[in-house]
Amino acid sequence: MCGIVGYVGSRDATPLLVGGLRRLEYRGYDSAGVAVQQNGKLEIRRAEGKLDNLVTAVAQHPLSGSVGIGHTRWATHGRPTEQNAHPHVDCGAVTAVIHNGIIENFADLKAPLVAAGHRFTSETDTEVVVHLLEDELAKGALLEDAALAVLPRLEGAAALGLISAKDPGKIVAARISNAGGVIVGYGQGENFIASDMPALLEHTRSVSFLGAGELAIVTATAVSFRTLDGKPLTKERTTVTWDPVAAAKSGYRHFMLKEIHEQPRAISDTLLGRVERTTGRVVFDENVRMTDDQVRALPRITLVGCGTAGHAALVGKYLIERLAGIPCDVEIPSEYRYREPVVTNGQLIVAITQSGETVDTLAAMHEAKARGARVLALVNVVGSEATRAADDVIYLHTGPEIAVASSKAYTAMLVDLYLFAIYLGQRRGTVDPERSRQLLAEAFHLPTLIDAVLGQEPKLKALAYRYHGARDFLFLGRGIQYPTALEGALKLKELSYIHAEGTAGGEMKHGINALIDEHMPVVAIALRDPVYRKIVSNIAEVRARAGVVIALAHDDDEEIAGHADEVVRIPRTNELISPALAVVPLQLFAYHVADRRGNDVDQPRNLAKAVTVE
Ligand code: G6P
Repeated sequence: MCGIVGYVGSRDATPLLVGGLRRLEYRGYDSAGVAVQQNGKLEIRRAEGKLDNLVTAVAQHPLSGSVGIGHTRWATHGRPTEQNAHPHVDCGAVTAVIHNGIIENFADLKAPLVAAGHRFTSETDTEVVVHLLEDELAKGALLEDAALAVLPRLEGAAALGLISAKDPGKIVAARISNAGGVIVGYGQGENFIASDMPALLEHTRSVSFLGAGELAIVTATAVSFRTLDGKPLTKERTTVTWDPVAAAKSGYRHFMLKEIHEQPRAISDTLLGRVERTTGRVVFDENVRMTDDQVRALPRITLVGCGTAGHAALVGKYLIERLAGIPCDVEIPSEYRYREPVVTNGQLIVAITQSGETVDTLAAMHEAKARGARVLALVNVVGSEATRAADDVIYLHTGPEIAVASSKAYTAMLVDLYLFAIYLGQRRGTVDPERSRQLLAEAFHLPTLIDAVLGQEPKLKALAYRYHGARDFLFLGRGIQYPTALEGALKLKELSYIHAEGTAGGEMKHGINALIDEHMPVVAIALRDPVYRKIVSNIAEVRARAGVVIALAHDDDEEIAGHADEVVRIPRTNELISPALAVVPLQLFAYHVADRRGNDVDQPRNLAKAVTVE
C-alpha cells in the first residue's frame, strides 16, 4: 500500500525522490520521508500528513546527495506520526530502510535486539529490519549480503529499499512474497527503483519487475539480481508503453475527474485489436493460452475480485452465464483463500484486478491454482504479480489509473468481460455469428454513448449539489444492474464519506424498507430491461413511504418521470453492455458530492489504491 522510490546517479536525489513520491501518493498518504546518502553519512527528513508537509520540511532543511530512498506511508503498525514515518534508521543512523507490507514476526525479532542494546525509535514492524542489518553490516558485510542474511528471517510480506553509508553508492531493493511491486528503472548513468510505474515514467520506460523472493543491487552504472537464497539471477528488461502524460492531471482538478472523462478513449483502447476482421471472432493476444478445446470443456468458472473489481466480477457472472452457458460463481478473495474451496476438474478462476497486486486476490489465485484450477487474470498493470501468477492474462489496456477510487479500470473490466463472454460463446457455439456481430457493434458504439453521458456533467453536478448534505443513500438495482447499484454506493461512500448501501430491489422487503424515510435519497437504476417493471414497483414502494427517488433511466422513457423526483437519463444500448454506461453518471455524481463537501477526491481518508496487506 505504501509507495517506495529510490534514485542512484549523479543528480541531486531529493527533488527526484519527492517528484516520484508525488506520483505515488495514491498508495498511502499519512506520512512521508526521504533519506539521502552523502559523504559517508545519511540525512533523513520525515513529516506527518500529506506529502506537502515533507516538501516544507525539505525546503526548511535542504538535503544534498545523489543516492536516496523515499516513502509515502499507509499506516499498519504504529500511528501516522513523524516518528513512525519511513525511512527508518539503525542506532548509528548510517543505514536506512523503506518498506511496504507487514512483518508478522517483528515482535519475536525485536525482543533479542532490544536485549542486545539496540535503540528503537518507532512503533513500526519495519524498524527491526534496519537493526538486524546493522548487526550484519558491523561484521563487514556488503549491503546485499547483509540483506540476504536478514530477509529470509522475515515472515509476512515485504517490498523493501535499503541504503547504507557503510556501503555507499547503491540501493538494495527486495521483494518477499506479495507485498506490492518493486520495479527497477534503467537510466543513463543513473538508475531508479519504485513500487509503481507512474514514479518512473518521467525518467525511463525501460524496466525490470522484481518477483517474490528476488533482490536487486542497483548502482548508478549497473543493476544485478539475486534470488533471496543468494543465487545470481538474470532478469528481462521490458519497455512499457505508458506515456508520462497519462500519469499527469492534464488540466483536470483531480485524477478521478480526468479518469472518468478518459473512459471513451480507454474503452476504445481496450477494444483495439480484439476482433478478427475476417471471421468476426473475438481474439486475445498470446497471453491467453487456453485452447479452443479447453474452452469447450470448461465445467465452471469462479470470478474473484476486491472492491470495484468484485463488482465487475458480478457483472462477469451474468455475462458468461448468459452468453456462454457456463455456471459461474463470484467469490470475495479474502473469504475464498481461507475457506477450503472446492475446485472441480478443469475449472477456471478469473481474477480481476486493476493493480495486479491486491494481496487477497493474489492469494485466492494461488489457492485456486494449488487446488488444480486454471487461472486467468484480467489486469491493467503490466508486469504486476497477477500477470506472473496467472496461466492466462487479458490486459485492460486502460493506461495508469491514479485516483484511489476506480473508474476507467471498472468500465474497461466490464468491456473485457463482455468480450471474454462472447469469446467463450463463440467457441462453445452459444453465440452465433449474427448475434456476435450485433453484440460487438454495441461494444464499439459504447465510447460514443459514454461521451454523451459525460456531456451531462453540469446536470449531474447540480444534482450532487442538491443532495450533498444527505447522511445516507440507498442504491437500488436488479438483474445486471444490481452490481451497478453496489458500485454506485461504493463510489459515493469512498469519495464522500456518506453512508451508502447498494441492494437488489427484490431484497428491500427483507429489511431495507425499515430505513426508508424522506431523509434518505434512493437512487434507482431503472433501465428498460427485462426487470424494468420490477424496479418500478420497488420505486413505488419507496415513494409510498415518503422516500425521495432519483431514477437512472433511458432517455426515451417517458413513463419514469411520473414515478421519480429526479431523473438522470442515459442513451439506450443493449442490456449486456449497459452496466458500463449506467455507472458513468454515478461516478460523476459521487465525484461532485465529494468535491462539494470539500473532500480530497483523489486520496480519500483511510484508503489506498493498491491493497498489498491483508
Ligand atoms: C482498493 C481500491 C479500489 C479497488 C480495490 C481492488 O480498495 O481503492 O478502487 O477496486 O482496491 O484493487 P485492484 O487493483 O485489485 O483492482
